[in-house]
Amino acid sequence: RTLTVDRARSGPAIDKSMYGVFFEDINHGADGGLYAELVRNRSFEFSAADNAAYTPLTAWEVSGTAKAVDDDGRLNARNRTYLSLGGGSSVTNAGHVAGIRVEKGERYAFSVWARAGRPAALDVTLRDGEGRLAEPRPVAVRGGWTKYEATLTATRSSTTGRLTVGTDEDAALDMVSLFPHDTFKGRPNGMRQDLAQKVADLKPGFLRFPGGCLVNTGSHQGYDEASGWQRKRSYQWKDTVGPVEERATNANFWGYNQSYGLGYYEYFQFAEDIGAMPVPVVPALVTGCGQNEATDDPALLKRHIQDTLDLIEFANGPATSGWGKKRAAMGHPEPFGLTHLEVGNEENLPDEFFARFKEFRAAIEAAHPDITVISNSGPDDSGPVFDRAWQLNRDAGVGMVDEHYYNSPRWFLENNARYDAYDRRGPKVFLGEYASQGNTFGNALAEAAFMTGLERNADVVKLASYAPLFAREDDTQWKPDMIWFDNARSWGSANYEAQRLFMTNVGDEVVPSTATDTPEFRQVVTRDRKSGDLIVKVVNASAEPAATRIDLGEGPEPAPTARATTLSAAPDAENTAGERPVRPEESTVEGIARSFGHTFPAHSVTFLRIAAR
Ligand code: AHR
Repeated sequence: RTLTVDRARSGPAIDKSMYGVFFEDINHGADGGLYAELVRNRSFEFSAADNAAYTPLTAWEVSGTAKAVDDDGRLNARNRTYLSLGGGSSVTNAGHVAGIRVEKGERYAFSVWARAGRPAALDVTLRDGEGRLAEPRPVAVRGGWTKYEATLTATRSSTTGRLTVGTDEDAALDMVSLFPHDTFKGRPNGMRQDLAQKVADLKPGFLRFPGGCLVNTGSHQGYDEASGWQRKRSYQWKDTVGPVEERATNANFWGYNQSYGLGYYEYFQFAEDIGAMPVPVVPALVTGCGQNEATDDPALLKRHIQDTLDLIEFANGPATSGWGKKRAAMGHPEPFGLTHLEVGNEENLPDEFFARFKEFRAAIEAAHPDITVISNSGPDDSGPVFDRAWQLNRDAGVGMVDEHYYNSPRWFLENNARYDAYDRRGPKVFLGEYASQGNTFGNALAEAAFMTGLERNADVVKLASYAPLFAREDDTQWKPDMIWFDNARSWGSANYEAQRLFMTNVGDEVVPSTATDTPEFRQVVTRDRKSGDLIVKVVNASAEPAATRIDLGEGPEPAPTARATTLSAAPDAENTAGERPVRPEESTVEGIARSFGHTFPAHSVTFLRIAAR
C-alpha cells in the first residue's frame, strides 16, 4: 500500500474553530453534571409536569413537619414553591441520586434563603452513613426573606453525603444550596472541575449550546408574569440569566427538571474560559424532534425575534446598553464576542421552518450584518426533508447549514467521500451532531475514518461536533455519549480519545494526499504552517496491520524521527469508570525520509508529526 503526499501543494485552509463540542442538558449533563451544585431540587420546584414521579419534595426527606407551599409568601414570582419547616424539624437532601460527594479538606459554600416570624436557629450538618463529614454550622434567621451563607469544611471524604437543615422555630426555606469552592477556574455558580477540564482538554474551537431537542420543543411561550406560571415552555435564554433564585425552573425535554443554574451567562463564560467560540441555538417556533408542529402566531414570532436581537446585545453590546448592562451586572463588562448563532434544531417541517427562519435572518442581518445565522437540514443524513431543507437553504443563499446524523459504524466507514461532492459555492456545513451507534473502539475507529473526510473538505465543513457530550451513568436518556461520569468519577469514552486526537492535532491547512484506501483504511495529511510540521493521520480499521510506503513528495529532507501518537485496541474495547483500555500511546518513529515505510497496527488511529529537518 502507498500513501502519497504532495507537500509542495496546499489544500484548503482549516479554521481554528473547526472541531468543537455540543453541550446539551441531556443525561443530566447540567444539573447533577457539569453544573457543580450538590443539592438536588434546591428550590422545591420539582413537579409532575417535569416527570410523573416528581413532587416538590423529591430528593428531600423530612423529619418532623415540613410541607412545600405555593402561596403569596413565596420568595419571588419566578420561584413559586418554598418549604415551610416546623420548629424542631429538619429536612435532608440526598444530592444527585447517589449522594453528595465531598473531599477531605475542601470547603463547601452553603447558602439558603430563609424567613422566620420568631428568631430561629438553623442547624446545618453534612453526614453520611458513618457520621459527620463537617463541623455543623449554626445559622441565625430572623425576619423576612434573606440569604444566609456558611462555609463547611469536609473533615472526611465521601461520595454518599447528605445535607440536613434543622430549625428550632418555624421557618420558611428556599434555594438550599451547597457548592464546592473548587469550581472550574474558581467561577462562582460554576462548573464541576473534572468534567469541565475534560471538555477543556479537547481544546474545542466552539461550544454549541444549549441543545438539541431541548431548545425547540414544548410550548414556545416564555415565562409570563401576566399569565403566571407556565411549565414545559421552550428553552428561552432570558429565563436563564440574572440571580439564580430568580430563574424560573422548567421541565427539560429529556424528562427531568432543569434549574437553569447553568444559564446563558455561564455558557458564554465557559466558552471564553476554554477558548471556544460560543454558538447558541434559539427556538424557531416549530417543533422538530418528532413533534412536528409549527406555531402560527405572528406576535409571538416577533417577540422571539426581538429576544434573539436582545441575546446578541446581551453577548456583544456595550456595558451601557440595556442587555449589556445586565451582562456587566453579572460580572462581565466586556462583550463576549458572539459571531455565530443558530436558529432552530432538526426541523422536520422544512417549509414551515424556513418561513420563520427567513424572518429571523432578515432581522438579525439588518441589525448585525457580521453575525453568521445558521440554518438546519432536519434530523437525517439524506431523504425528502433533508433535500427540501437544503434546496431552501441553497436558494436563499444561507451561509451555513447544520447537519445531524447518528448512523452505524459501517455507514461512517463507507461515507468518507460525503463532502467531496458538495457545491463549493453553496452554504457551508456545520456538522452539529454525529456519532456512530456505540462507545466501543470500533465505533471510534469508524468516526475517526469519517473525520479524515471532514478534514479533507475543510473548505466546506466549517464546524463539527460529536454528540451528545455528557452522560451520567445512573440516569441516561441517550447512548452513546462522549464523556461519562457519576458523582465522583468521570472518564472519556473510546470516542472521546479519538476526538481528542483530532481536536488537539488539527494543523491549519490540508496537504493533498492519496492512498490506496478502502473503507477500512483512510488518511488525511495536514500542515501546521507556523512550525512547518506535517501531520499524517491514518486510520486502519481492519484486523490486519497495514504495511505502507509513505512518499512525501518534493521538498526538503524531513527530520529523521517523528513523534507518533497511536490509539490501538480491540474493536470491542470500551473505557469504563474502572478501566481505560483505549488511551493514546506516544512513541518515536525512526527512519523518516522523503520516502519511508511504516506499518500501521491493526485497529488503530495513528498521527505522525513530521518536522522539517
Ligand atoms: O444529541 C441528542 C439529540 O439528538 C439532540 O437533542 C437532537 O438534536 C438529536 O436528535
